[in-house]
Amino acid sequence: MDVAAFRALEPLCWRAPSAHNTQPWRLDYRAGAIGVGWDPADTLPAADPSGRDLWLSLGAFVETCLVVAADAGLRMEFVADHRAEDRRVGWLRESRYRYHSPFGAAQVRDRRTHRGRFVAGPSAEVIDAVRAVAAAAGGTIRVLPDAALSTRLLRLADRQLYADPAVVAELRSWLRLTPGHPDYHADGLTDRCLGLSRGEAVGLRAALAAYPVLRRLGLPRLLAAAAGDPLALGGAVIVLVGPADADGTTRVGLGRVLMRIWLTLHTAGLSAHPLSQLIDAPAAKATLGALLDVPAERLAHVARVGRPADPAPRSARRVDDIG
Ligand SMILES: Cc1cc2nc3c(=O)[nH]c(=O)nc-3n(C[C@H](O)[C@H](O)[C@H](O)COP(=O)(O)O)c2cc1C
Repeated sequence: MDVAAFRALEPLCWRAPSAHNTQPWRLDYRAGAIGVGWDPADTLPAADPSGRDLWLSLGAFVETCLVVAADAGLRMEFVADHRAEDRRVGWLRESRYRYHSPFGAAQVRDRRTHRGRFVAGPSAEVIDAVRAVAAAAGGTIRVLPDAALSTRLLRLADRQLYADPAVVAELRSWLRLTPGHPDYHADGLTDRCLGLSRGEAVGLRAALAAYPVLRRLGLPRLLAAAAGDPLALGGAVIVLVGPADADGTTRVGLGRVLMRIWLTLHTAGLSAHPLSQLIDAPAAKATLGALLDVPAERLAHVARVGRPADPAPRSARRVDDIG
């Protein structure tokens, strides 16, 4: 494989999405193959103790690498080799054929998470298209039928997560609420990407700084309320349901599916706004599982999807393709 040619493309591959924008992936260039692994410093042990979002993010990165390489004419494939003890999920290596994907570098570069207003939800054709993508990997897509119930579940989930000091401390460490933050242009969640006004960003910073003192005085409820109601911003809520008995390799495969779903949405002019709290908070996850009649452990990802009213800001990367 032309490793040097791929190395030049690596910055574009970093446009892959990751939970809290931690960018956990690491490439290990060896003779003839490139290991795909992760750095534990960029994982979320409090918010993501099962590693669900870590495997999804690594899978999204793998899929992005394959799409970017294929678009540049490189013949590359991914071979799963999940070894937690070596912090590796597999290898990118030379293949006889170019990876077949309807997507290319342009979609990888332009896709964005969108947390703002949607003017329309996905059409039946788009839902069918993402369902087909999920089915190819043994998964399925469910559309949440009841917006009112989803709103109640979101509130429950936010309250539960904001009540957990470890989750809040971890979130705080990845928030970039002022352009003066040293990592503002490198990683994490910026005020702009979260759609916060200057005043809201200042208020959130102050509330999180006071969290240890105010936690028992109702701050978690206030923070949950301040998070607002994303479902009032339009779109439909879709749930990616994975196969039963998913192991690490399957979960990374689901991350590849998630990336294909997001690129499918992007190509149709739509965006995703993940609502992972619905499956991070145990009570909300159990209710969602019961509502969909699916074992809760198979719920892999939840997102509001729709046609954005305005373009979303570009998120930061530690390694950036535009210098
Ligand atoms: C597995 C996974 C879970 C995510 N969960 C959330 C979430 O719960 N809420 C949210 O606002 N964004 C969530 N995101 C979106 C990331 O924050 C986003 O991908 C990252 O900040 C980079 O921004 P971009 O997608 O615009 O490139 C998630 C992304 C992934 C891959």
